[in-house]
Amino acid sequence: MTEPTLAPDQEEGAIRPDRQPEVPGASTAARAVTEGEPASPAAAAVEPPESAREEVLVLDFGGQYSQLIARRIRECGVYAELLPYSTPVDRIAARSPRALVLSGGPASVYAEGAPALPTELLELGVPVLGICYGMQAMAHALGGRVEAAEAGEFGRTRLEVAGDGGRLLGGLPTEQQCWMSHRDCVREAPPGFVALAASPGSPVAACESVERGLYGIQFHPEVVHTPYGTQILERFLREIAGCEERWSPASVIDEQVERIRAQVGDAEVICGLSGGVDSATAAALVHRAVGDQLTCVLVDHGLMRKNEAEQVVHAFRDELGVKLVHVDAQDRFLARLAGVTEPEAKRKIIGEEFIRVFEEEARKLKDASFLVQGTLYSDVIESGGDGNGAATIKSHHNVGGLPEDLDFDLVEPLRLLFKDEVRAVATELGLPDRIVWRQPFPGPGLGIRIVGGEVTRERLDILREADAILQEEIRAAGLYRELWQSFCVLPVVRSVGVQGDGRTYAYPIVIRAVTSEDAMTADWARLPYDLLERVSNRIINEVQGVNRVALDISSKPPATIEWE
Ligand code: XMP
Repeated sequence: MTEPTLAPDQEEGAIRPDRQPEVPGASTAARAVTEGEPASPAAAAVEPPESAREEVLVLDFGGQYSQLIARRIRECGVYAELLPYSTPVDRIAARSPRALVLSGGPASVYAEGAPALPTELLELGVPVLGICYGMQAMAHALGGRVEAAEAGEFGRTRLEVAGDGGRLLGGLPTEQQCWMSHRDCVREAPPGFVALAASPGSPVAACESVERGLYGIQFHPEVVHTPYGTQILERFLREIAGCEERWSPASVIDEQVERIRAQVGDAEVICGLSGGVDSATAAALVHRAVGDQLTCVLVDHGLMRKNEAEQVVHAFRDELGVKLVHVDAQDRFLARLAGVTEPEAKRKIIGEEFIRVFEEEARKLKDASFLVQGTLYSDVIESGGDGNGAATIKSHHNVGGLPEDLDFDLVEPLRLLFKDEVRAVATELGLPDRIVWRQPFPGPGLGIRIVGGEVTRERLDILREADAILQEEIRAAGLYRELWQSFCVLPVVRSVGVQGDGRTYAYPIVIRAVTSEDAMTADWARLPYDLLERVSNRIINEVQGVNRVALDISSKPPATIEWE
């Protein structure tokens, strides 16, 4: 048994998994608005890029960090893709990978129904690195002994390298730290293997059979708390598998541009834009490929942050010269939100109305037959892969569905990229930092930050102003990129205050600032007192209708990041 969920304090700074935020309770329709993109159910398979001639396939045994392994390999300049462990061996062989990596996973190799490792994979003549469950599965398949450890090892663990460390660990310090997350251990390496290291709970914490090109480690090299993790991955990729540094996210730009041109021909293309980095990057790529054949649609539902719509219009229309339809739908949304206080009802209304407006605009562009989507590789993986025999890991709803009768073909130029790679592409394409590094913003926008009451124009204006002050001060303090999200919440209650010579009866503003790696867990950010003081003074003095500022110091779990 391996990899239970880590407590947030263990996780802080330790791992950087790239899973998309999963939003319990967020309706599909509401989430469609996050990136301003209507969506589609099925997406076409995408060929690996030319620049990925040397690819590494990571076989996913259900590990919490499987995506992270692929990301780390790509950070080493080698293209990696994640496939389910059950992918047929002939399909894997047909991809001619340079190396295979077997991920961790939650099962015990000896449990009934545990994901088994087809031994033919180990006979392909391709170097294999098993990590955690991946090593246990390999050891089990080849006659080693895997059993429950006396005590599991979770978190930072001392590793002792044996002998000269062999090919995989040779030259690294004899005593080092690593990050473990397992209950089972390899007690005896398979015949023909050399044990390379041990830890208090893992008699064989690393092993190899150089002759057969098989390597295993019990710890997680992909996690930043394994200080030599990257070095070990590099050793495997370069010295053992002979991979060169060929992959960079920017290197896909030219290739994607060619592909988009080939796909679209001279047809018209439409793209919903919110200013979020994914849809913005997808739009910028498509624009580079087909120029004026692309029309972007920005639906301003009145729930955006201060100057957000203007910034997007400026960046796209003025700076990049993209054809952009700016739909001011604020009145429409406010009218539909009148009297609604229930969070899910709000989300639903905002999501539905968004789709309606987008649909109307799309129909005006009669000749548009393609729709751009900012689907990322994490979405692809989580929705079951690209038709490589992938089992559905979980179905992904970061983008909700436009009605099928709109009948668009999809253009999804980011399907191969992780979020941080998208940021690199965005920068390369010349998108402004404000868009490239924008903190995530929920689709229903400020609508779900006015809590316990109706969303009205007055409350939105108060919240928008307070939020702008917070953002300004956080940027000025140089903290914006360090925070996963920072924002204000307006609870619909009034409290007494005293300003000038009179009593006031006004709203409080709650400051919410969190650090997180993936939004699944989050910790409240320890903002400096002087910054908090400035923000509090400015909000109370500059925003009419507010007489109190509070700070949310709850982590997730048990709280969530947003208040609704
Ligand atoms: P919670 O509040 O669940 O949020 O901790 C996790 C992440 O998801 C974002 N979020 C949403 N995104 N529609 C969205 O598109 C929603 O309804 C929604 N609710 C939360 C939130 O901002 C955070 O990044």
